[in-house]
Amino acid sequence: MSVMLRSFRPTDEEAALAAWAEFQGSGFDFLPFDYETSIPWTEWLVQMERYREGINLPAYRVRSAFLAADVEGELVGSVSIRFALNDFLATRGGHIGYGVIPRFRRRGYATEILRQAIEIAHAEGVRPLLLTCDDDNVASATVIERCGGVLEAIMTDDDGVAFRRYWI
Ligand SMILES: CC(C)(COP(=O)(O)OP(=O)(O)OC[C@H]1O[C@@H](n2cnc3c(N)ncnc32)[C@H](O)[C@@H]1OP(=O)(O)O)[C@@H](O)C(=O)NCCC(=O)NCCS
Repeated sequence: MSVMLRSFRPTDEEAALAAWAEFQGSGFDFLPFDYETSIPWTEWLVQMERYREGINLPAYRVRSAFLAADVEGELVGSVSIRFALNDFLATRGGHIGYGVIPRFRRRGYATEILRQAIEIAHAEGVRPLLLTCDDDNVASATVIERCGGVLEAIMTDDDGVAFRRYWI
């Protein structure tokens, strides 16, 4: 198994949009929360690279990398690595968010995605890292703990949802 984290490419459009549609209503955004279908894919990719460099960041965004998880040329997941925290991220969102397309789950991909994402964040000098997940998200809590997450607290968000805060 070799998971590669890389920038999204023009050729990922179809697979990424299909995954994005598949995740609708799941509570996880496969594409960033501010992705808009009205923006041409290639233009949006350029915007993502600018956000990675911290150029033209909207007030609501922090510098971050949004990467594809690729296994032998197939898109299996996505990950957002935030290099700073705003108020929301410091409480609920954390530094890293990831998702694996349902048909590719239970193969260790998320664990490998998070392991590599931690390395990328560390290479940017970001540590310690805050990781969060819903209290009932056993899969994500397991992934975080396998990557060394230390539970700080279980809290309740503004919507009354219990969530776990971990530090790595
Ligand atoms: C959480 C998620 C990323 C896990 O992806 P994954 O690739 O299946 O994770 P892994 O294969 O690395 O699983 C690691 C371990 O978690 C546990 N796990 C995974 N899915 C599980 C499930 N549905 N129920 C219970 N435990 C589960 C298992 O112990 C698993 O290891 P094992 O298969 O060796 O037993 C995936 O379920 C997902 O995309 N969920 C929706 C988005 C999401 O919740 N993202 C995290 C936001 S904080």
